[in-house]
Amino acid sequence: MRILITGGAGYIGSHTLLEVLTAGHEAHIIDNLSNASPTALDRVKQLANRDFGFTEADIRDRDAVQAAVDDFVPEAVIHFAALKAVGKSVADPLPYFHNNVYGTLVLLDALRASPCRCFAFSSSATVYGDPDYLPIDEAHPLSVTNPYGRTKLQMEGILQDLAHSDPSWSIALLRYFNPVGAHASGRIGEDPNGIPDNLMPFIAQVAVGRRPAVNVFGNDYDTIDGTGVRDYIHVTDVARAHLAAVDWCAAGNGKGRGCEPFNLGTGRGTSVMEMVDAFSRACGKPLPTIMTPRRPGDVATLYADPGKAERVFGWRAELDVDDMCRSSWNWQMHNPQGYDQEP
Ligand code: NAD
Ligand code: WQD
Repeated sequence: MRILITGGAGYIGSHTLLEVLTAGHEAHIIDNLSNASPTALDRVKQLANRDFGFTEADIRDRDAVQAAVDDFVPEAVIHFAALKAVGKSVADPLPYFHNNVYGTLVLLDALRASPCRCFAFSSSATVYGDPDYLPIDEAHPLSVTNPYGRTKLQMEGILQDLAHSDPSWSIALLRYFNPVGAHASGRIGEDPNGIPDNLMPFIAQVAVGRRPAVNVFGNDYDTIDGTGVRDYIHVTDVARAHLAAVDWCAAGNGKGRGCEPFNLGTGRGTSVMEMVDAFSRACGKPLPTIMTPRRPGDVATLYADPGKAERVFGWRAELDVDDMCRSSWNWQMHNPQGYDQEP
């Protein structure tokens, strides 16, 4: 299959690109490299030992996106390109709506005249807001707790309306829980700019000596050890889910499957301290922690019911928390400064 991947140079995009190429598909990337390094694409090329097309452009650049669609003629699109920092979206929301929502409209417009009606969208567990019940299934009510989450809900709505208007569309709304870890090779991984917002890259930077201690945001939650519980999922499992979703879309054989949400999680919750302990085992040394107050907006516990993805397209997560920590450490240890290696 010919698969167009927006945001394919980013963290989840580069891991998905590698799985796509390894599975024998052809790929074309559109990425403006606003949050990615070209080195990631070079390394995917080496690992897969296969080439792919690359348009270095913003998805809001109509001419560039249309040219990529017209030249490559995709049979499926995987749409990762977006801004994703929750805190920044609260401080300055407009770039989030512009990049994420308007960018998605430009991409969908460019597909109008093409035969491609198969689309996998990077959504997020953030669309569930504060959980009413656990585990969270796809029928859980949707709500918004920050502008980033609102962009995801708006894009889901746009895609639902599109599929409703034209029944030849097959659209998978993939709601990721907490993607972590790195490719087993240690050659590609998560490389955040500045101080990591998320737990796993922060722990990895403590392990490699770039930061003194892990700040634990609250130890007075009603959880196993008082620290927040999340459903961490290995990025390679997330990447493989995209292949399964695209196969599901394409297997409609021109008969659209509509627009369906799918949780991508393991169904298991892990606390912050359990994650720190697992990483300590992986890197072979204790990791210092500092207890700090709760982070505003955080909930105690969040984990998925991932059963629908298994029932509908036969995917389930295979890798566990130890695999996530080992692979993350392998990446961080060999790339202490991420893709921008200092001498
Ligand atoms: P990332 O920032 O590493 O990847 C996003 C990629 O999109 C980057 O390569 C960036 O350069 C590119 N990009 C951003 N805006 C663009 C634009 N306007 N035009 C062209 N390219 C653009 O992020 P990620 O962690 O790989 O996330 C991928 C997707 O998954 C995003 O849509 C994100 O919202 C979603 N998601 C991520 C997580 C997570 O925890 N990482 C969780 C849930 C959902
Ligand atoms: C995990 C746990 C923190 C950092 C975010 C987005 C969500 C989705 C995934 C995109 C929580 C605790 C964290 C630290 C800590 N992204 N923590 N010290 O908040 O579950 O989800 O990423 O769609 O929308 O909100 O992930 O990794 O930030 O936090 O104690 O330095 O770790 O309180 O319990 P989160 P996270």
